[in-house]
Amino acid sequence: MSVTTEHRTGSSRIPGFGAIVGVSVPELELVEKRLHEVVVSQNDLMQRVSVHILEGGGKRLRPLLVILAARLFPSDVRAVVEVATASELIHMASLIHDDIIDGSDCRHKKPSLNSRWGNHLSVLFGDHLFAAAFRLLAGIGKKPRVISVMAKAVSCMCEGEFEQMSYSNDYDQSEGDYLRRIRLKTAELIAASCVSGALLSEMPEELVTSLYEYGICLGCAFQIVDDVLDFTSDPSVLGKPTGSDLKCGTVTLPLLNSLTHPVYGQRIREMLRRQPLDEATIRAVSEAVKAAGGVNYAHEKASAFIDRAKRILMAFPKTPPRTALEGIADYVLTRAY
Ligand code: FPP
Ligand code: MG
Repeated sequence: MSVTTEHRTGSSRIPGFGAIVGVSVPELELVEKRLHEVVVSQNDLMQRVSVHILEGGGKRLRPLLVILAARLFPSDVRAVVEVATASELIHMASLIHDDIIDGSDCRHKKPSLNSRWGNHLSVLFGDHLFAAAFRLLAGIGKKPRVISVMAKAVSCMCEGEFEQMSYSNDYDQSEGDYLRRIRLKTAELIAASCVSGALLSEMPEELVTSLYEYGICLGCAFQIVDDVLDFTSDPSVLGKPTGSDLKCGTVTLPLLNSLTHPVYGQRIREMLRRQPLDEATIRAVSEAVKAAGGVNYAHEKASAFIDRAKRILMAFPKTPPRTALEGIADYVLTRAY
């Protein structure tokens, strides 16, 4: 595989995962083209929203996983591009709906759809992307299992969001509760992207299962790092607000672990009683979570998931797509946005 420095993800040239892991993935350019083709609208306002979303870019992790999974064994590139595009559309739709739920005003360094056009229009636009995704999946005309794999992942994501609401501001939940939730809301779509690519290839069934497990481990690590960055990053680097989990009452692993600390645990619980949390309290809680070792603990947990993900890949022939999947796993741990 040749090396490239970046690929276009929307017009803002946010480096995508393809560039980050140093592989040339020309299919990703085709995915960008298909995204523009399927999101287009005759309605002026809808078209402006489409441009806003597509120019927002994104890391294009899910399409890359579809493509690399399909490359592990011989596969049909046309179908792969359609399914890779669908995976990104589902992801985009979920972020639009997520920003409405979280009341978030910024995504990919740009105003979120809800902050610019309101919740009503944003829900509809998310639905539009979601429908476009399933139109593409239906259009490949073979492998109906890919449609059910993706549909199941979407149900999981919705269940994960319900779980997140059920456990909101619950400081006595277990680490298992948190892990089940992130598996549902994040890891299942990442795993479904891997499995969909695999199903479009001649991969033996037992390896499809292995790739599902790789996706789950990668996805859990990805969400844990996301939750760490909410405590440690700078909004200008991250492209979205930080401290938002604390503000929304979402209890993530760094906080959950710090609550078990013999000294900081009680202090943090007291600070969290001052609802709604103001900016100063959010900063104070964040500092206490770091001092209690919650961030380090979460990072170690993410690292263990990545070790497992890479061990699973050892079942596959040592080819360039396998090396790229290992590279993605390593990068998830070090990403800053
Ligand atoms: C981001 O999490 C959100 C998700 C991983 C999933 C959101 C899923 C839904 C809203 C349901 C599915 C809906 C459709 C239309 C497919 P986060 O809030 O932790 O991350 P963030 O900091 O990037 O917002
Ligand atoms: Mg969110």
